[in-house]
Amino acid sequence: MSETWTTVDTYLSETVIKPDPAYAAVSIASKAAGLPDIAVSPAEGKQLYLFAKMSGAKRILEIGTLGGYSTLWLARALPPGGLLTSLEYDPHHAEVAAANLKKAGVGDRVEIKTGAAIDLLPTLQGPFDFFFIDANKDGYPEYFRWALKLSRPGSVIVADNMVRDGRVANAHSGDAAVEGVRQTMALAGAEPRVTATVIQTVGSKGYDGYMLALVS
Ligand code: SAH
Ligand code: DHB
Ligand code: MG
Repeated sequence: MSETWTTVDTYLSETVIKPDPAYAAVSIASKAAGLPDIAVSPAEGKQLYLFAKMSGAKRILEIGTLGGYSTLWLARALPPGGLLTSLEYDPHHAEVAAANLKKAGVGDRVEIKTGAAIDLLPTLQGPFDFFFIDANKDGYPEYFRWALKLSRPGSVIVADNMVRDGRVANAHSGDAAVEGVRQTMALAGAEPRVTATVIQTVGSKGYDGYMLALVS
C-alpha cells in the first residue's frame, strides 16, 4: 500500500497542497546538511498550518525543530507580531534550521532554543496558543505535562507520531518510544482539562497518526 500512499501524496501536493518552493528548499538544504529524512510531509505541514490558523495562534511552541520544515509551515500561520519558539537538542540541527528559516523570510518570527527540551521548558513563559510536540518520543509524557502548564483555555496541542505503524497498540513492546507515546495517550485520556483524539494517517511517511487536543 505504501507505494499508493506516496503516489497519492504526490498528487495531492500538486493539486491542493501546492507548497511554494521555500518548503522544498528547506528539505533540500536539510538533506545536504546530513539531517535525517523525518520531517512532516507537505500534507501534514499544511495541516499544521491550517490548525494554527484556525486556532488564531499568536504564540506557538514547537518541540523538535530538525531543519525547520514544520517550523516554516507553522511560522507562516502566525499573524504580524506573532512568535514561534522551537526547541532543539542538536546544535547542528538548530544551526541548519536557523539558516533555512532566515532564507525563507521568517527569521524574525522564530526563535530557536538549543538544548534538551526538558531543561528549556521550565525557562519558558506561557501561555502559548498552539503546541507541536515532535521530539524524542520517550519525553512525550513530560512534554505533554509542560504543554498543559504553559497553556491557556483554548490552546491546541498537536503531538506527532502517535501511531507508528500500529506499534502504539502493543502494551508489551519493550520500546521506550512506544511506552512514551502510550503514557501520553493515557495522560490525555485521563486529563479533565483536555479533549483529545488521535487521527491515523497514511502517506509518503508511511502509516502513523497525530494527537489533537484542545485545552479547556
Ligand atoms: N518537527 C520537525 C521534525 C523533528 S525530528 C519537522 O517535522 O520538520 C525530531 C527532532 O527532535 C530532531 O531534530 C532531534 O534532534 C530533536 N530532539 C531529540 N531529542 C530532543 C530533546 N531531548 N530535546 C529537544 N529536541 C530533541
Ligand atoms: C522519527 C521521528 C519523527 O518525529 C518522525 O516524524 C518520524 C520518525 C524517528 O525518530 O525515527
Ligand atoms: Mg515527527
